[in-house]
Amino acid sequence: MTKIIVNGDVKKHRISKNIYGHFSEHLGRCIYEGIWVGEDSKIPNTDGIRNDVVKALREMKIPVLRWPGGCFADEYHWMDGIGPKEKRPKMVNTHWGGVVENNHFGTHEFMRLCELIGAEPYICGNVGSGTVYEMQQWIEYMTFDGESPMSNLRRANGREEPWKLTYFGIGNENWGCGGNMRPEYYADEFRRYATYVRNFGGNWIYKIACGPSSNDYRWTEVLMREAGHMMNGLSLHHYTIPTSNWNNKGSATRFDEKEWFSTLKNTLVMDELITRHSAIMDQYDPKKRVGLIVDEWGTWYNVEEGTNPGFLYQQNTMRDALVAGINLNIFNNHSDRVRMANIAQLVNVLQAVILTEGDKMILTPTYHVFSMYSVHQDALHVPVNIECPEYTYGLESIPQVSASASVDESGKLHISLCNLNPRENAEVSCDLRGIRCSEVSGTILTSDAMNAHNTFAEPDRVRPAAFAGAVLKNNELTVDMPPMSVIVLEIK
Ligand code: AHR
Repeated sequence: MTKIIVNGDVKKHRISKNIYGHFSEHLGRCIYEGIWVGEDSKIPNTDGIRNDVVKALREMKIPVLRWPGGCFADEYHWMDGIGPKEKRPKMVNTHWGGVVENNHFGTHEFMRLCELIGAEPYICGNVGSGTVYEMQQWIEYMTFDGESPMSNLRRANGREEPWKLTYFGIGNENWGCGGNMRPEYYADEFRRYATYVRNFGGNWIYKIACGPSSNDYRWTEVLMREAGHMMNGLSLHHYTIPTSNWNNKGSATRFDEKEWFSTLKNTLVMDELITRHSAIMDQYDPKKRVGLIVDEWGTWYNVEEGTNPGFLYQQNTMRDALVAGINLNIFNNHSDRVRMANIAQLVNVLQAVILTEGDKMILTPTYHVFSMYSVHQDALHVPVNIECPEYTYGLESIPQVSASASVDESGKLHISLCNLNPRENAEVSCDLRGIRCSEVSGTILTSDAMNAHNTFAEPDRVRPAAFAGAVLKNNELTVDMPPMSVIVLEIK
């Protein structure tokens, strides 16, 4: 039996809605095809952006979107992506398949996408191969209201008003594809570039420094020590792969319980990473002014057979739903420090919420988890204590249940639960402390197969359903969770 204490009398901070953020890079079929089809496309679109994807993202309540990379960001020169499309220079996308990038999707198109989906833009600037001047000009182009060369150029390109831009990243993975820098060197570069990222008029920029890869605690230490005072956020990148071999990460759909187990075990590592990076940040920033921004996370498998290896296209199964649910619970439970997270990536790349094929679109199990968990956005975090049986495979064990909870503005309590075991139910009993309630309802995402997934032929194989397995009696809640399930309960 799993016992959960829901500490309803200990509500301290909000779960930033930006924890439910996403990432879109000029990579494979994410931007081109997945989002941008062009004004002349037969696929129904608004200003070149596909309508079906916009509708799905609005319904999922996407709060913030990161762009243009990723590794692409440190090769991107923003001026190539403005002005008449036919005059925009082409470039080679060296990181991702060596394909030609025609720059038809640039700053104006990205900002339009954000308007259409109702998300805040999070733009990542080029430190690796760009100049300070170029970054300074981009900020001026987007956010300056007065008379200046860049604001006039923006007007000449059809946009009178400046955009509101809060989130700006100063480089991406500058320890790797963004310039192979040492932390000491990047810390100085960050300070220099950040100096020229100006706040114009009423626009205030939240500056995000390139943070560590997974468990590179030294990077965090050096960045916080040397540049913590100049940043608002520090990023963290961590991907979940089933194996320890980057050359053979395993298939997205053909796997056994061994890989199911190792994937979920590797997902739980996120908790340790956040705990340890936060502890370092606490030494330099005990008041938690600087946010930890997990702006790349999710599963990374071998690409689907027959697809371009540089396009990172993978299917998405019930296993990915569990990975999403577990990570989002971890972020909720660390939301005193984690202020944003961006799953990689939005459409057709890695752990995508949407897959497209021509004019068709499907929603993945990961989409459904984001949609179900959207009730936590900007709600007050309620700490939970869990005691649960282990899920054992071979000689290894991990906790069977993951959970997080919050109370929304109208006073409703939401508890999100994941049963990691693909063979056994989880019987859960919740002690709802400090909460008076009389009604429970819920939504469940589950399946009869670990690798169940949605396809263009069968788009609704995995989809949420009403959940009737929760019973509330005398303020004591019991839940019967089927194997491999993600459940969100609403308690009033
Ligand atoms: O998301 C794919 C790539 O993974 C990104 O471009 C890069 O930042 C990371 O290594």
